[in-house]
Amino acid sequence: MSLSEIVKADYFDFLRFPTVSADPARDQTMRDCASWLEKKFGEMGLEAEIVATAGAPVVLAKWSKGGSGKRRKVLIYGHYDVQPAEMGDGWTGDPFEPRMLDGMVVARGSTDNKGQIFAHMLGVAEAIREGGAATDVIFVVEGEEEVGSDNLEGVLRARKDDLKCDVAIISDTNMAGPNRPTLTYGLRGIAALEVELTGPSHDLHSGVYGGAVVNPITVLTRLLAGLHDEKNRVAVPGFYKKVRKVAAWERLAAKNLKVSDAEVQRQAGSPALAGEPGFSAIERIGMRPTAEINGITGGYQGPGPKTVLPSKASAKLTFRLVPHQDPREIARLVERDLKKRCPKTVKIKVTPQHGGFPYFCDPKKGFGPAASRALSQAWDGKKVHYLLEGGTIPIVSVIKKVLGVETLLVGLSLPDCRAHGPDETFPIGYLERGAKMNRALLREISEV
Ligand code: BES
Ligand code: ZN
Repeated sequence: MSLSEIVKADYFDFLRFPTVSADPARDQTMRDCASWLEKKFGEMGLEAEIVATAGAPVVLAKWSKGGSGKRRKVLIYGHYDVQPAEMGDGWTGDPFEPRMLDGMVVARGSTDNKGQIFAHMLGVAEAIREGGAATDVIFVVEGEEEVGSDNLEGVLRARKDDLKCDVAIISDTNMAGPNRPTLTYGLRGIAALEVELTGPSHDLHSGVYGGAVVNPITVLTRLLAGLHDEKNRVAVPGFYKKVRKVAAWERLAAKNLKVSDAEVQRQAGSPALAGEPGFSAIERIGMRPTAEINGITGGYQGPGPKTVLPSKASAKLTFRLVPHQDPREIARLVERDLKKRCPKTVKIKVTPQHGGFPYFCDPKKGFGPAASRALSQAWDGKKVHYLLEGGTIPIVSVIKKVLGVETLLVGLSLPDCRAHGPDETFPIGYLERGAKMNRALLREISEV
């Protein structure tokens, strides 16, 4: 087998683990995948170990040149867990049996995040084979990113000495488009909540009681509709209070991405766009905070009709946040607003879930210019784009807080890769490209 065939076979093995962190039945799968990573890192010449947590294990793997010379050290983060994937969601094949389609690998996790972290592993392995990486490195690969990274902060704190580094790098974000190298300089944060309303103590016959007894679904839909005003702005009092004003260069950088509203609409496959007035789609996604209803449940959802007046109704909500919003404060504001607007005719329960802080790092400072140079080199001298990402990687702000370093977000995913969706893909050629970028980045960082 040629090297590239071995690489592809390894990548496919990685993808075959159905590491769905949201599914408690996958406990053993998570441990198996962590062991596979530990072994792979070992074969690549790194010293790997598995750190157990209350949830999925974390894999640490380090390589250092040794000796007494002062060298830079880089932390490379990734996650081996993936979002749920079911045939019923629209997959055209088994999500955990990778296959090739026009140069793209189709499988759950192919881009988010297995392909992207694997590219960095390949870069470091290559460098070690050729005599050593340009900096010391420590990989941190966790299995709970898609459920909020609850246990990773503890590991960072417990292993603070081992994880001491000059800067972190992460490929878990989008590029502006195919072959358009991109440095992401900010991420949105998140506050997740669940709200449950209870009306009658049990489901009732809607003919016998309807019209006389409160229907919790009706009340819930009113409450949820009130999360936005008629202009599509979030209507929770105090929600925008701490939102930072973006600089003029940032709006220019957003414009230079040349991602039109029509392009965003095409990617989404949606008949229309919606959002805050005064901002382009790409600005709404990167620069503005939002309220989203992610799921709503209540009453009868089976086939055919059922005349029931339900006892309960509930919804899952998330709020995407921008600097300097605090997820705990936002969760409190939302809870207060929902409780205040909820009529006394139903019982309301609001349960805060995971949260993550937004992140911002000026790309013109620190290691930012080094990252720009490396990205450009890896993409044959192409101009680098600067992006504010709408998604969240909770650990980035924790890395800053606990280890005191910034993170360079150098993602390899494409907007069309369908992360979290059916038939997720990753261009197979980006493994090699990513490995090249990794090596250029370590080199540039070593020279700062
Ligand atoms: N890779 C994503 C974050 C992301 C998505 C960055 C799109 C850039 C573009 C990450 O794996 C993710 O999905 N994060 C979750 C975190 C949440 C569950 C706390 C997210 O953003 O929903
Ligand atoms: Zn994800």
